[in-house]
Amino acid sequence: MGIQRVGICGSGTMGSGIMQVAAVTGHDVVLRSRTTVAAKSTLVRLEQTLEKQVHKGRMTPIERDGALDRITVTSDLDGLADCDLVIESILEDLAAKKGLFMDLEEACKPGAILATNTSTLPVVELAMVTKRPSHVVGIHFFNPAPLMALVEVVRPVTASDETVKAALDFAAACGKQPVEVKDQAGFVVNALLFPYLNSAIKLADAQVASVEGIDAAMKGGCGFPMGPFELLDLVGLDTSLAILQALYDEFGEPHMAPAPRLRRMVAAGHLGRKTGQGFYSY
Ligand code: CAA
Repeated sequence: MGIQRVGICGSGTMGSGIMQVAAVTGHDVVLRSRTTVAAKSTLVRLEQTLEKQVHKGRMTPIERDGALDRITVTSDLDGLADCDLVIESILEDLAAKKGLFMDLEEACKPGAILATNTSTLPVVELAMVTKRPSHVVGIHFFNPAPLMALVEVVRPVTASDETVKAALDFAAACGKQPVEVKDQAGFVVNALLFPYLNSAIKLADAQVASVEGIDAAMKGGCGFPMGPFELLDLVGLDTSLAILQALYDEFGEPHMAPAPRLRRMVAAGHLGRKTGQGFYSY
């Protein structure tokens, strides 16, 4: 079950990062966004990113042109009809994802694999709204997708071995290190990472140290590339809240209950880097 043609639904941070990874590693990519304007502007940003890579000698102009030529954009789900694999990367909202999977069931060819890039939501629930639950899997890239080595391949109880193998092979073909994980909230990375990020907010609220001080402590003391607040701003506070809420809903452990400040910041539209304001200003 070789995967050559990959559809991506959603042109946000993760969708555009996955588009770059898949196209640069030789896959044909169809980016589907709700509007062609959004999809085209994602493509323009990719051209700029790849131009920088050429400038730094990381990529030849021929490789850049090849990657860009392999991408088409569409606002129409029927544009995904020929894809061997479609990766959903829309907002972390189960109802919205279920609606999309129902539509993908109709739009995609029989045998195509439908994948979700969800960070925490139950993959099995998406599988069960389709007529092909054995062909639904999680393929979870990390932010920023072009730079992070890991892909979690999430096996819902409904997935066939062939589907999981195809997802593991696709991640490897993208130059990533795949790790197979069980379909439970947070999988491996977010189940460990987000209670830590949540605790950092509670520590700042308890005035143990400032936001800057906590970031400096974790970078200097643990060798982390980013402090917890820099990372929260990178991931997005809305996504972070959704992940913590899903962890809390599944496990009910007090340290997973989202810090009140996180909820208030999201309500205020302070979502991190993407809105220019989070724990830091950008
Ligand atoms: N494509 C290719 N290369 C790119 C790029 C892109 N889109 N964007 C940046 N780069 C390159 C830059 O050009 C730069 O190259 P040079 O050093 O040659 O200039 C290089 O990548 C590194 O960029 P920066 O100097 O800006 O950044 P850095 O060295 O400080 O590293 C980082 C940035 C990799 C993000 C690092 O800080 C890091 O690893 N942070 C932790 C990120 C992390 O933990 N992510 C996981 C979040 S959790 C998650 O994603 C799960 C979820 O479900 C929410």
